[in-house]
Amino acid sequence: MANQTARVVQVTDCHLQNDPSQLYRNQDVESQLDRLLDHLTVTQCSDTLLLLTGDIVHHGGPDAYRRLVTRLEHLPFDTAWIPGNHDDVDLMQACGDELNRKVIYRHGWCLILLNSTSDPDGCGSGALGRSELAFLQKTLQQNSDKHCLVVLHHNPLSVESGWQDPIMLADSEQFWKVLRLHQHVRGVICGHVHQEWRWDYQGVDVMSCPASSVQFKKRCDDMILEDEPALQAPAYRVLELSESGRIISQVKRFNLADG
Ligand SMILES: [Fe+2]
Repeated sequence: MANQTARVVQVTDCHLQNDPSQLYRNQDVESQLDRLLDHLTVTQCSDTLLLLTGDIVHHGGPDAYRRLVTRLEHLPFDTAWIPGNHDDVDLMQACGDELNRKVIYRHGWCLILLNSTSDPDGCGSGALGRSELAFLQKTLQQNSDKHCLVVLHHNPLSVESGWQDPIMLADSEQFWKVLRLHQHVRGVICGHVHQEWRWDYQGVDVMSCPASSVQFKKRCDDMILEDEPALQAPAYRVLELSESGRIISQVKRFNLADG
């Protein structure tokens, strides 16, 4: 039988406003996301798993979630989401079990979806907290015969930025302590930083994805919007998870002028 590959598309940091006519950092992020989803519909196969990795809305109101859920229902993709620091977990939970799955299985892979919004500092930081770390530990133990991909909003590694590092995953040390015990973790994906990174850390392929909304310039002491034209476009990450445990991944930038 031919090798089967699980295909995942990550879209993150949409920052939808409750009122769609409101801009986020001067961008019409709702229409950008709409066009990005249209683009995915024509470019990705229907067995793609679409993962929305947090900051789905900017200041959590119910209308933005409702509009997005209606939009997602019309897409051909199986979709799940996790919250970011700007989300309202209760409103997301109310959108149904399918979107809020914590474990997803695909072709020998186990995808573990985490909530990193515990212990917010009010400035954007978040943590997994005891119960989510225990869930991660238990789920990794139960799936030791599979390759694992861990999905969370906050970056568990430094991005060498004076304003972003203080708001990375607050309990990253404990997170890596759990992962060290489980050699079948192949990858970690996150959002939050609005820029692309890829590290090989402790033998794990760790990747961040630029946003569907606006991008932040790398390695700055204060928040500066990306000004390099090639890096400004809304983006998404495609991951191919092979049965052998290999991850092939690429960030793609969506040219709004083509959409
Ligand atoms: Fe964000």
